[in-house]
Amino acid sequence: MNNVIIAPSVLSADFANLQADIEMLNHSDAEWIHIDVMDGVFVPNISFGFPVLQAIRKHTNKFLDVHLMIQNPDQYVHQFRDAGANQLTVHYEGNIHLDSLISKIKTAGMHVGVALNPATSVSVLSPIIHLLDMVLIMSVNPGFGGQKFIPYAVHKIELTKELIESKHAHAKIQVDGGVTLDNAKELIHVGASILVAGSAVFNSPDPKATITALKNVHNI
Ligand code: DX5
Ligand code: ZN
Repeated sequence: MNNVIIAPSVLSADFANLQADIEMLNHSDAEWIHIDVMDGVFVPNISFGFPVLQAIRKHTNKFLDVHLMIQNPDQYVHQFRDAGANQLTVHYEGNIHLDSLISKIKTAGMHVGVALNPATSVSVLSPIIHLLDMVLIMSVNPGFGGQKFIPYAVHKIELTKELIESKHAHAKIQVDGGVTLDNAKELIHVGASILVAGSAVFNSPDPKATITALKNVHNI
């Protein structure tokens, strides 16, 4: 059985014809759609917000995996739910009341993930790992698509897997940033089961075929 989930990041989609890209994803092997929300404060880039999320929701039944790179995400939990998010991933960094933020997301009826920037140690998740549906290991500094994979993220995935196993937790591991057909197999091998890919999918000649290739790369 193939348990790998591919979550294409629409940050690299064609915003002037987003509907066409969402329809392509609807017919692809991608189970999830990864949605990067950036506020220009938490990260040095601004992407999009509620109207775009709502527009995507209108055209798909896929699982909408929303990665929040914003300050004060606790203020917007219900708005993201109402706009169609199935899961909210919030960063460890900058969210000092993470326990209550996690509870708020769950109580709102969504899955919850916590993201770690490249320089943040996996051990910070030790007290809360049992509360999470997913851990997002950032393999680039958040803010932009198309960056180069940071190699030491591989070891962080291994450490996350060890932490999950040692605590008998159920969180899945997602990796985001610089994921390509060349490194996907290793990432799955060390413990990632959800691969985010933006430029590797949307800048490829046949995005749908690339999604299928990513999903099956560990069988090759
Ligand atoms: C970066 C975002 C990523 C981005 C990945 O801050 O979180 O989801 O879209 O893009 P690629 O796959 O091109 O590195
Ligand atoms: Zn992301």
